[in-house]
Amino acid sequence: MSGLNELIGKSKIIEEIKKFIKKASYSPHCALISGETGVGKDLIAKLIHKLSKRAGEFVTVDSSSIPENLIESELFGYRKGSFTDAKEDKAGLIECADRGTLFFDEIADLPLHLQPKLLRVIEEKEIRRLGDTCSRKIDVRYIFATNKDLKKEVKERRFRKDLFFRIKVLSLHVPPLRERREDIPELIEYFLERENRENNTIKRVSKEALSKLLKYHFPGNIRELENIIRRAHIICEGEVIRVKDIELEEELEESVFKKKTEDNISERLFKEMIERGKSYRKVVHEPFMARELNRREVKGIIELGLKETNGSYKKLLEIFNIREEEYKRFLNILRIHKLQ
Ligand SMILES: Nc1ncnc2c1ncn2[C@@H]1O[C@H](COP(=O)(O)OP(=O)(O)OP(=O)(O)O)[C@@H](O)[C@H]1O
Ligand SMILES: [Mg+2]
Repeated sequence: MSGLNELIGKSKIIEEIKKFIKKASYSPHCALISGETGVGKDLIAKLIHKLSKRAGEFVTVDSSSIPENLIESELFGYRKGSFTDAKEDKAGLIECADRGTLFFDEIADLPLHLQPKLLRVIEEKEIRRLGDTCSRKIDVRYIFATNKDLKKEVKERRFRKDLFFRIKVLSLHVPPLRERREDIPELIEYFLERENRENNTIKRVSKEALSKLLKYHFPGNIRELENIIRRAHIICEGEVIRVKDIELEEELEESVFKKKTEDNISERLFKEMIERGKSYRKVVHEPFMARELNRREVKGIIELGLKETNGSYKKLLEIFNIREEEYKRFLNILRIHKLQ
């Protein structure tokens, strides 16, 4: 399959999405796709690129998965020697999308101080690598995605208004699956057929199992449905997928579980610092830079520290064993996490 028929569903919403994809593929302007997790934002962005027939690559950036202090160099690139680790010239991700499409996922997570810089690159259609003296002309088509309410982010001053207006020239909100239930049977059919084809089987879904699925609210949207079918296909022993093969993870249970594991990690690492006298640098900063810890877990550790010191930053620096030369960077982290 290629093109728009990769987008399964016959609801009015799917029709609207297809119209948007066509319109956006002809246009050079920025596009913004918003919607809950798993609704198909990535898929839509890829289809826009595919239909646009732009010669270059489809490059994805997700700033929430890049450590804060590396985002700028990853995005804009650098010249050899512009900082300690810059051993050679390197093009940034924006430049890699020259003549293609840059898909900027989770745009709301782009740090505030880099937002004007991105805006300038979009407007001037040229980019200057860190430490470079000259700019390079680029021809990039930008597509942004977010699962946050960007308008609210602007109101609360976490996102710049000028960038917001610039990126939403073409904008699409993708509604959750529970608001287009009529697409569910066709999606089930599609995912099941794919499993059957890949595994050389002829399994089908029983009426009761189908009705269980049709009643579910799918907090994880289409990705969740896809996984449910994949799992059911594996679990089911005969040729019919029955109710017992359909395992639904309730939204509440899932988020409580996620929060619990994050809390546990934060607590464990916090204790390691306080009880064993290990430094913040070793226990938190380095694993964070190696992407072994996420921002929420770091935030959890700092919150535990502030609770311990009754909100005193001075004491926090002491109990976290933070050296004087590291004060500034640490305070920066507090500011980013809005803990100061
Ligand atoms: N209409 C659709 N037809 C077929 N497959 C779909 C459809 N919408 C989404 N999918 C599939 O569902 C899965 C999740 O979609 P996708 O990754 O695009 O979601 P997303 O909105 O980018 O999620 P996140 O916010 O978590 O990044 C993918 O495997 C995608 O191919
Ligand atoms: Mg995505």
